[in-house]
Order: sequence, then structure tokens, then C-alpha cells
Amino acid sequence: ALVEDGRHLLSNVISTSVKEQALYGGVVPEIASRRHCEFISATVKKALLDAGKTIDDVDAVAVTFAPGLIGAVLVGVNFAKGLAYSAGKPLVPVHHLRGHIAALYLTHPELKPPFLCLVASGGHSHIVEVQDYTHYHILGHTVDDAAGEAIDKCSKVMGLGYPGGPIIDRLARQGNPHAYKFSEPHIPGLDYSFSGLKTSFLYSLREWIKDDPDFIEHHKEDLAASLEFTIVDILMKKLRLAVKQTGIKHVAVAGGVSANNGLRNAFNEHAQKYGWTIYIPKFSYTTDNAAMIGITGYYKYLDKVFCSIDKPAFSKVTFK
Ligand code: KG4
Ligand code: ZN
Repeated sequence: ALVEDGRHLLSNVISTSVKEQALYGGVVPEIASRRHCEFISATVKKALLDAGKTIDDVDAVAVTFAPGLIGAVLVGVNFAKGLAYSAGKPLVPVHHLRGHIAALYLTHPELKPPFLCLVASGGHSHIVEVQDYTHYHILGHTVDDAAGEAIDKCSKVMGLGYPGGPIIDRLARQGNPHAYKFSEPHIPGLDYSFSGLKTSFLYSLREWIKDDPDFIEHHKEDLAASLEFTIVDILMKKLRLAVKQTGIKHVAVAGGVSANNGLRNAFNEHAQKYGWTIYIPKFSYTTDNAAMIGITGYYKYLDKVFCSIDKPAFSKVTFK
């Protein structure tokens, strides 16, 4: 993506192997790395063409250096190093989760820190106090599975396909959210836990299938709606607590799970009920994209946070 002034998008190109990965029921790391290698050059070229710019017009090159599947992250980091080095531009390292938060600035140009942000993706579930454009305070995070991971795993158990989030979302719209109850975590403070819910979902299904082998087929809408309801309920409870503790009533949501209609509805209800000012990203900026990395890069560029050519890539890095 090419971005200008931290708010304007000049281009945003996505090359994805998700259909190929779906054949295997999840992301196969080697396939992801290979497709990154094959498509990164053409993808960057298209981003420049769409924006009507050349690399000489660019001030800096921003790249995700962590976290993620290391093979894929390495391809991006090394490509960006080559690009920045050959063009004589500074290289700006970006943490993926910071990118999800920055995606909000595209949808809400009026949004300015401080605000609270729930970041829920396939790998993370965090409550973040965004203090300014480059400083964050993590108030809570998941101690095991992420919200998106739990949805994907439950969808897989139901044989619904990958990625589970959009499938569960679609089915949930036609089901009863109170049809089934699954165990909710009892974890102190602002941290999350989703692995118990996943196990409770699996064990409950096993019992029900004993009586009716076609249970899932007959009840998939109610199962999806009840699962979604439980996950949204867990996410919102802690977020309400975070609002109470910090007194910050500007509340945002980001990450792949922010595409979920149940979660978006819950945000709207909370705005009405508790007087929150809410910020929800456009659907197209909820899942992984380069625009959000560019926006984050812009603010780090202003702070002159550059890295050297030997900066490593990491599969995991604590978000702080
Ligand atoms: O942020 P993202 O694109 O990638 C990671 O950084 O992980 O998030 C992907 C996650 C997946 O778990 C996917 O199932 C979930 O976001 N997701 C959704 C929806 N769309 C994507 N979860 C619930 N409802 C959706 N509509
Ligand atoms: Zn992501």
C-alpha cells in the first residue's frame, strides 16, 4: 500500500492464498512462504502503479517484522530491506498488531489518541490503551487461544471450513444466540481465555452427536449463533471493565474478528447504553492488509524510528 499523511490511502493491493489454504483446512506455512516469494514483487509493483507513483516518490518503506508465520514474515522483511536499500530510503519496522489499530484511522479520520482498542484477530486478543500514535499500554491479553482462533477451531470441529470466522458469522445471523450455553472463563482482571470455551464446545457437541448423528447439520445456525454470542459476551465484559478502570469512553475495535456482525452490533449497543463513542473499521480494513502497516509506518517515520539492514524478523514479539 501507499499512504500519505497517515490518513490517505493512495493504493492498497492484496494478494492472498486463502482459497488454496482452505483446501487444507488452515494455513500451511510452506505454501504461505512460497506464495509470498512468488507474488511480493508484482504486488508491490501494482501498489506503486495504482498510486501513480515510483519508488523515488516514496519517503520510507514500512514492513511488518513480527509477529506471524516466520517464513512469510521473512519474505516481507527481506524484500523491504532490498527495496529500501536499493532506493536509499529509511526502513521502518512495524508490529502487526499496531497495524490493526492504525487501520481505524482510515475509516475514522477524526479519531485521535487516547482511546481504548479491543484487538481481536486469529493470533491475538488484547485490550490496548492507545496513549498516542506510537505509545501503547496493554491492559489485558489472552492467556491461551485468541478469539479468532477459537472461532476457527470450533468451525473446523463442525466441519464448516476455513477460515471459520466469516462462516460462523453468516450462520449466526439465522440462529438463536441463546439456544446453547458454553462455559465462560473465570479469569481475573482484564485478561482473556478462550481455550476452555473451545473444549466445552467440543465436548458438548460429542454428547449431542451421540443422540443425533446429524446434530450439527440440523442445528448449525443455532450452534454458530450461541458460539458467537458467548465469544462476544466474553470480549465485551472485559472491555466494559477496562472502560470502568480507565475512565476512557472512546472505544475502538480492530483485527480480523472486528468484521464479525455480532461484535459490531454489541459495540453499537454499548454506545447507546453506556454513552461510548465507538470506532469500528470498514470491513475491508478488518483483516490483514498493507494499508494499516503504512499508516503505522507513517507515525513511526515522524518519530524517526528506523531500523538497520540487519533487523531480524520474529514469529513472536511481545506487544508493548
Ligand atoms: O487479523 P486477521 O486477518 O489475521 C491475523 O492477524 O490473525 O484475523 C483473522 C481472524 C481469523 O480467525 C478469522 O476467522 C477471523 O479473523 N474473522 C472473523 C470474521 N472475519 C474474519 N471472525 C468472526 N467473524 C467474522 N466475520
Ligand atoms: Zn492480523
